[in-house]
Amino acid sequence: MPETENDKAFDALAEQYDLMVDWPRRLKREAPFFRSLFDEFAVRSVADVACGTGHHAAMFHSWGLKVEASDVSAAMIDRCQTLHGEPNGLTWCCRSFTEPSNGTLVDAVVCLGNSLALAESKQAAKRAIGAMVGIVRPEGIGVIQVLNRNAIVLNGVAVKRVRRGRIAGRDTLLIKTMHELNGRLATTVLDVDLDSDPAMYHAKTASMQDLGRRDLEAMISDAGGSVLSVCGAYSGDAFDESASGDMILVWQRN
Ligand SMILES: C[S@@+](CC[C@H](N)C(=O)[O-])C[C@H]1O[C@@H](n2cnc3c(N)ncnc32)[C@H](O)[C@@H]1O
Repeated sequence: MPETENDKAFDALAEQYDLMVDWPRRLKREAPFFRSLFDEFAVRSVADVACGTGHHAAMFHSWGLKVEASDVSAAMIDRCQTLHGEPNGLTWCCRSFTEPSNGTLVDAVVCLGNSLALAESKQAAKRAIGAMVGIVRPEGIGVIQVLNRNAIVLNGVAVKRVRRGRIAGRDTLLIKTMHELNGRLATTVLDVDLDSDPAMYHAKTASMQDLGRRDLEAMISDAGGSVLSVCGAYSGDAFDESASGDMILVWQRN
C-alpha cells in the first residue's frame, strides 16, 4: 500500500504514463535482451515488481511464461487489468516492492524503468532487493534497470518529453522534466488540460535515490545474490559509469 510521496506519485499518472512511453518502440528495443537471458537460464516464470502499466509483464506472458506483476499504485494495477486482462498465467497484485511475496518461488524477477530509484531511502532500496532475491528460486535470476545517475548532467530543468493526447477524454499536454530537488534528482510531470479555459494544470514530482553500481552490487550480495553482468544499454553494451544512459544489473540467487 502507498506510504510515501513517491509511492503515491504514480497513482495520478496511470493513463499519462502510457501517453509518455512509445511502447512498441521500447519493447522492440528491450525484448531481445530478455529473450536471450530467459532462454539462457531456462526461465518459465517471472515476477515483475513495480510493473507500471504492465507492458513488460504482458509481453513475457505472450512468450508463454507464467507472470506475477505487482505495483504499489492501485491505479497502475487497475490500468494493467483494463489493458491486458487477467488470462491464465498472468496475475496482477497491488504491493510495494519492499514487501515480501507469499507466492511460489519464480525463475526470474525484474524491476525496470528506474523504479528502484523511487524507493524512499537507500534502506528501502535494500529491503526491496532483499524481497526480490527472496522470491527467486536458488540459481534463479534477477534484472534491475535504473538510470545511470553519473551520466546525467543537469543545468537547471531538462525537458525530457512533451506529448499531447487524450486522457480521460480530455485534450491533454504532458511535459516531463528532470531537475534537482533538495540535492536529489527528481522528475516532474506537468499535466495541462487544454480543454479548459483558462487551462487547468497539475504537476506530480517524484524524487530519486542516487543508486550507484557499488551500492546495488553490495545490496544484492548482502541479500544472497551474485551480480553476473552490468550493461549500459539493452543492446548489451558494457556499462560505462561516465557515459551509459542505463545501468542494467543481471544477478543470480546463490
Ligand atoms: C517509472 S515507472 C516504471 C514502470 C515499469 N516498470 C516500466 O519499466 O515502464 C515506476 C513505477 O514504480 C512504481 N513504484 C514506485 N514505488 C514503488 C514501490 N515502493 N513498490 C512498488 N512499486 C513502486 C510506480 O507506481 C510506477 O508504476
